[in-house]
Amino acid sequence: MTSNFNGFLRQATNSERLKRQRSSTFRDKLSLYQTAHMKYPYTLPALEYAYDGLEPHIDEQTMHLHHDKHHQAYIDHANEAVGKYPELQKADLVTLLAHLDELPDDIRTALQSNGGGHLNHALFWE
Ligand SMILES: [Fe+2]
Repeated sequence: MTSNFNGFLRQATNSERLKRQRSSTFRDKLSLYQTAHMKYPYTLPALEYAYDGLEPHIDEQTMHLHHDKHHQAYIDHANEAVGKYPELQKADLVTLLAHLDELPDDIRTALQSNGGGHLNHALFWE
């Protein structure tokens, strides 16, 4: 059991996927991070497939709820937080999330929750 687990860990940590993720340029190559949706003011990316496209696993109503309402609310609250600090508006959202400890105290939690919610939902729609 232990040797299988160690083997799995060795294989996982040497995988090409992880090597790419560790590379400093990998993040920059992800198109999602380069879209206008991740720059202030953050905007809702259009769903690039039909709202019923994931049925029967996720129904159309649930997709509308999460895309049109839930995701939009994350965006609105993230914009409200970053809107207080013009100097932060120049950085893309991913950079801000990677430097949460350096953000002003009064928006750190809001941006972690809502900026993270925006990014996570955008990743899901891809
Ligand atoms: Fe959601």
